[in-house]
Amino acid sequence: MFEEIERLRTEFEDRISKVSSLSEIEELRVQFLGRKGKLTALLKSIPTMPPEKRKDFGKACNRLKEEIEKRIKERLLFIKEEEKKKKLESERIDVSLPGRKLPVGSLHVVTKTLKEILRVFTSMGFSIAEGPEIETDFYNFEALNIPKGHPAREMQDTFYISEDVVLRTHTSPVQIRVMEKHQPPIQIVAPGKVYRKDADVTHTPMFHQVEGLMVDQKVTFADLKGVLELFLKEIFGPETKVRFRPSYFPFTEPSAEVDIGCVICGGKGCKVCKGTGWLEILGCGMVDPAVFKAVDINPEVYQGFAFGMGVERIAMLKYGIDDLRLFFENDLRFLRQFSGV
Ligand code: FA5
Ligand code: MG
Repeated sequence: MFEEIERLRTEFEDRISKVSSLSEIEELRVQFLGRKGKLTALLKSIPTMPPEKRKDFGKACNRLKEEIEKRIKERLLFIKEEEKKKKLESERIDVSLPGRKLPVGSLHVVTKTLKEILRVFTSMGFSIAEGPEIETDFYNFEALNIPKGHPAREMQDTFYISEDVVLRTHTSPVQIRVMEKHQPPIQIVAPGKVYRKDADVTHTPMFHQVEGLMVDQKVTFADLKGVLELFLKEIFGPETKVRFRPSYFPFTEPSAEVDIGCVICGGKGCKVCKGTGWLEILGCGMVDPAVFKAVDINPEVYQGFAFGMGVERIAMLKYGIDDLRLFFENDLRFLRQFSGV
């Protein structure tokens, strides 16, 4: 009978040295110590033995049982330790490898143009003002001398939010907001988004304008012309052809529109300039006395000029882009061409 214990011990030793996973260990444990296990069977046989042998045999069995339990515990710890090592090995990172490059974006060509425009004006002493894109009828039209029913409202096809609230159709309402709050001298530019029901190669439903306003005593049309010509030569270069064309805006008198020679076709005529060789980039004029009255500035004492330009139009001409809609399609092949400029 004692040989049987030795045999079990040898068998166990032999097998435990070979197990390499937690599930194999558990299997081995069940085979030796489980309810139907080999050692359990030996223990169960004790009552059938001659009484004088039972005590020693029982002791020997229990010793083996303790040994087995101890060995299992040790092996378990060893396997867990091995698994941890393997995991650490597989998750090891080489901190000396070069980092992965994140793609870096760049400014949109419209944003770049806008920044450039603002840089030129701020260098001439203009400060920057802003106003809301959702405007009331009063600021967008009424205070700018465009009463209800005035034909000028047709010039700008408007997105109405309610009868009294619109998406601003131009940045001119910022003039009113600034003059309501500040007395002259005033010298501001107001950049921002504006909205119109327009869509073709030179018109999109949302575009950017930069408004300019200068109010003081003795401001003349010559100042307006000087500021705009200097600005245009700064942006497009000293050779740029510029022309002032008489025009009409309800909030300026006299009024003009400014065109520059079409850089797409060199003035020969193309789809962008609609065959004329010129492209309109801004509207301007001397602030109408009716507007000064709406904001409580005395037109007998103060004069001013104002202008409003299309930023996309300027970007088109500056970078030779022949379709304004390209700015808003977000095609990376288009946008990447300007990432370095
Ligand atoms: C105005 O919006 C006036 N508020 C400008 C002004 C300000 C005049 C102050 C006098 C004093 P106009 O509708 O012409 O005017 O627009 C001005 C410029 O915005 C145009 O010259 C053009 O460059 C640009 N523009 C007009 N509509 C669009 C459009 N749908 N898409 C892109 N650019 C446009
Ligand atoms: Mg116009």
